Amino acid sequence: AEGDADAGKKVFNKCKACHAVGEKAKNKVGPMLNGIIGAPAGKVEGFKYSANLLELAEGGLTWDNETLAAYLTKPKDVIPKGKMSFAGLKKEEDIANVIAYLSTFE
Ligand code: HEM
Repeated sequence: AEGDADAGKKVFNKCKACHAVGEKAKNKVGPMLNGIIGAPAGKVEGFKYSANLLELAEGGLTWDNETLAAYLTKPKDVIPKGKMSFAGLKKEEDIANVIAYLSTFE
């Protein structure tokens, strides 16, 4: 289903402690997320990723609707030894909406 970017902006409040988007976005606890939809994993300049994420990135992990939905549902299912300490989003709708929101930042 198509997500709603406006609703996704609110969902992104759960990500903001660690991630920034927009014109002045910088890396925080997590990498900045401009342009992340469709991008290969592990490529944000200046961010120190986990070895596990880099290994999967080497294997071709890309952030599309499907991989990102899985990661946001349960980060450890996608990157078992990754360092994103986030419980995950429970509602499919929230996931679709936050992805729609993220896709507005190039
Ligand atoms: C990595 C999204 C919440 C910390 C990532 C990546 C994405 C993402 C797409 C991979 C980036 C890349 O490959 O360049 C999100 C979204 C969130 C969220 C949409 C909210 C729904 C959080 C929270 C934290 C966090 C709350 C901190 C407590 C991290 C860290 C990484 C990461 C440390 C790097 C993981 C690693 O190197 O293994 N996040 N995140 N994220 N995120 Fe999040």
